[in-house]
Amino acid sequence: MAAETAITGLSALRFTALLVQCRAGFENDCAAELTERAAAENVWGYCKAQPGAGFVEYFSEDGPGLARALTQLPMRTLVFARQWAGVVDIIEDLPQADRATPIAEIVAAQVTHVSGVFIEYPDTNTGKQLSAFSRKFQRPIEAALARAGVQLAPETDAPRLQLFFTDSSRVRVALADPGNSAGWPMGILRLKMPRQAPSRSTLKLDEALKRLFTEEERAQLLRPGGHAVDLGAAPGGWTWQLTERGMFVTAIDNGPMDATLMAGGRVEHLRSDAFTYRPARAVDLLVCDIVDKPARVAGLMADWLERGWCRAAVFNLKLPMRKRYAAVRDALALIAERVGEKTGRSPAIACKQLYHDREEVTALVRLA
Ligand SMILES: C[S@@+](CC[C@H](N)C(=O)[O-])C[C@H]1O[C@@H](n2cnc3c(N)ncnc32)[C@H](O)[C@@H]1O
Repeated sequence: MAAETAITGLSALRFTALLVQCRAGFENDCAAELTERAAAENVWGYCKAQPGAGFVEYFSEDGPGLARALTQLPMRTLVFARQWAGVVDIIEDLPQADRATPIAEIVAAQVTHVSGVFIEYPDTNTGKQLSAFSRKFQRPIEAALARAGVQLAPETDAPRLQLFFTDSSRVRVALADPGNSAGWPMGILRLKMPRQAPSRSTLKLDEALKRLFTEEERAQLLRPGGHAVDLGAAPGGWTWQLTERGMFVTAIDNGPMDATLMAGGRVEHLRSDAFTYRPARAVDLLVCDIVDKPARVAGLMADWLERGWCRAAVFNLKLPMRKRYAAVRDALALIAERVGEKTGRSPAIACKQLYHDREEVTALVRLA
């Protein structure tokens, strides 16, 4: 039976857990972050995380607290979470003949509208075996939802249905806030490698610009004719992304830059040390892809931001072998503290282990 009133938000829903997807191998980091960030929102619970599973579950008795976390913890600040949603039920033994109807009935008891349906599975070798199944299941589940009285209302703030399968008969039925979750199934933004880009690293910055920046930040910081500095630029994959968006770039690296990129006339290449280089005038954006200790890179970013040499910085932090969440948290805190002390305002920070990141995370810090 369909719920009686149209529910557009998540706050009225009763969740039993948060389901958070992450890169396989980073479950403990994801769990450490989630537990700490939820506690800061006064939500108390515990995580279950199996190494290599590609997801973490956060359980709490506080159902409204889980809904609060889902809407109030900004997704783009959760470093190890690729995608997340609130679990309303788990079905362990879906009938093979009709998997869709039991799911649709559960959904109909919760909401009258959903803004979309994502069929998801762990991004692991085992999980990938569900990719063909998940594609084929899209139409049957949408039809079953319609039969059960749940309307598909795209482009609204109705919750998004996220069905997380761990095999074809076992599913977690979950709902997400479309404004505070990834707009791509499993939080994976697949990007095509552009033929002209000088290196595969280009995909990291492309994803960061699409995923970490808000629409407004893109308009302000990536404007055609704007200026950027790229520290550790060679051979030029990141610089290429910026010139493609019409920016002029000063590329700092002792290594050689791609000849075609240089011939475009938008790039000045300086063979300098990124840690001692000083810009002649302030720029819109600083980007930095130098592989070094997180604290050292963070210190360099703080130098630029606190002196007003750039309005915002995008940079990678290489993860250490152990205590990876703590290393990222401390590096970002160092920047926030130094910039806050100097300017009197807290910078806006977004940080994520992107799909194209491996043993690193990518951050955007913007002067508020
Ligand atoms: C991962 S690569 C950058 C790839 C580049 N973002 C791209 O998309 O093609 C790191 C670069 O940092 C440079 N690098 C490392 N330490 C540096 C320093 N102190 N000053 C300038 N460049 C540095 C290296 O020479 C190397 O080219």
